[in-house]
Amino acid sequence: MADSERRVVVSGGSGGIGRAIVFALAGEGDEVFALGRDSGRLAALERRARAHGLRVTSRVCDLTDEAAVDSLVESLGEVSVLVNNAGMAQSAPLRRTCLELWETHLRTNATSAFLLTRALLPGMLERDDGRVVFVASTAAHTGSRYTAAYTASKHAMLGLARAVAAEVAGTGVTSNAVCPSFVRTPMTEGSVARIAERTGRGRQEAEEALVKASPLGRLIEPEEVAAAVTYLASPLARGVNGQSLTIDGGGVHR
Ligand SMILES: NC(=O)c1ccc[n+]([C@@H]2O[C@H](COP(=O)([O-])OP(=O)(O)OC[C@H]3O[C@@H](n4cnc5c(N)ncnc54)[C@H](OP(=O)(O)O)[C@@H]3O)[C@@H](O)[C@H]2O)c1
Repeated sequence: MADSERRVVVSGGSGGIGRAIVFALAGEGDEVFALGRDSGRLAALERRARAHGLRVTSRVCDLTDEAAVDSLVESLGEVSVLVNNAGMAQSAPLRRTCLELWETHLRTNATSAFLLTRALLPGMLERDDGRVVFVASTAAHTGSRYTAAYTASKHAMLGLARAVAAEVAGTGVTSNAVCPSFVRTPMTEGSVARIAERTGRGRQEAEEALVKASPLGRLIEPEEVAAAVTYLASPLARGVNGQSLTIDGGGVHR
């Protein structure tokens, strides 16, 4: 398959960052499969992409379900690029982090990436050509209050990216991560709403509190993350493996 005809999988393709990645890679000429659970959001994404002349197909799949992931991957054919982007975030102090919240984060943010990577990597290695990009977070590098489950799941995701990189070193496959701080997406809107509700602050004040946590001093736009993913997924990034690209405006999270 020529580079211009690459088949790409983007997990969480219907979300804020995922949609930007789908449009960026499809805009490069790739055939993109966008994965998620909500069929309505996926169908809307597919319609919008096709209206722009982009080759985007959506597939409904709960990526925490091993059998569902394996059968989905069997139906996709040769995949050259996997972007592990699906995720969730809810905050709670440790004492109020119930086992279910903990396990849901690990399953959604780390296990889904493990299942997809395990299923797609053998084909990439066989063809000696592939890119795996993980959308982790600055939370993969550092701990912050009230995010034990999210932080642990993102550390796990980055650990997976690095372990895969070690396994594929010296082949035509690479494994890298991008680690943004807060991005303007529905996930961040949810965090802002929860802060506003819990603290009695207005939405704008709550957003400012999040923004202050990043040296950038503003929210990141999804397209900025997509640009980093597009580079790491590109043929010219073949010499970059096992890296974590922090997008926080200050490089304090390494
Ligand atoms: N927003 C930020 O500030 C920020 C910062 C750093 C890193 N990140 C990371 O970037 C990634 C995308 O975040 P976002 O802000 O774009 O979030 P978002 O808008 O909430 O999108 C999350 C996506 O993940 C999908 N998803 C969740 N659970 C899934 C499951 N079990 N199976 C399949 N798909 C699932 C969702 O689709 P369905 O609900 O339809 O399943 C949705 O498409 C996440 O991994 C997040 O941790 C976000």
